[in-house]
Amino acid sequence: MTSNETGASPVTTAEEVKVAGVVLWIRPIGPGDSRRLVAFFSGLSPRSIYMRFFAPMKYLSDDLVERFTHVDPLRHIALVALGREVSGHPILGIGRVIAQADPRHGEFSIVVADAFQGRGIGAVLLQRCIDGAASRGIEKIWGLVLAENTQMLALGRKLGFAIQRAGGAEYELTIDVTEVAPEAERMV
Ligand SMILES: CC(C)(COP(=O)(O)OP(=O)(O)OC[C@H]1O[C@@H](n2cnc3c(N)ncnc32)[C@H](O)[C@@H]1OP(=O)(O)O)[C@@H](O)C(=O)NCCC(=O)NCCS
Repeated sequence: MTSNETGASPVTTAEEVKVAGVVLWIRPIGPGDSRRLVAFFSGLSPRSIYMRFFAPMKYLSDDLVERFTHVDPLRHIALVALGREVSGHPILGIGRVIAQADPRHGEFSIVVADAFQGRGIGAVLLQRCIDGAASRGIEKIWGLVLAENTQMLALGRKLGFAIQRAGGAEYELTIDVTEVAPEAERMV
């Protein structure tokens, strides 16, 4: 069974994880997540949208919805965290690592629903994206973060990213995943 637009089956190959009392299903995003993605985006605060996209955006264009839900799993790791115990199992967070022209390099992005920020969901989701990227041969992951984005800078520090001023109002976060042991190894 695959997940579909009605949300009847959102769990396909999902991993269940409990983070600060919130039960999540974490799984790759799929074409059936368009409505969930639109609903997630429309619930984000203007600040979260700006921190994620570096620009104010009122809605996601059909083109972006298509691109964000139809991903090449070999080049584009995109995981959603669904609220297991929330009606309709909405998206509570989305993490991505997208391989660049040099496929050893990937760019990350991460966004968590405002009401669920600060509970550890971003850390869990981004760590899984990093592990997924590493297992697909991506060696170096980077992303730009606005200087005022203290949450993302703290999250980057926590996950072991090197943080460098990128000029202007941005920092570049970089992590060499060949030097970071997979999560399972780190926990033993
Ligand atoms: C950045 C973002 C993804 C972090 O996700 P999150 O689920 O809130 O983060 P977590 O709860 O996993 O917190 C990870 C670390 O960030 C720090 N942190 C989280 N919330 C914080 C806050 N409100 N103030 C300061 N630091 C904070 C903490 O160090 C935390 O680790 P700790 O709780 O173990 O000390 C989330 O705030 C978000 O969606 N922001 C808007 C989009 C964005 O900025 N994306 C990044 C650029 S792509």
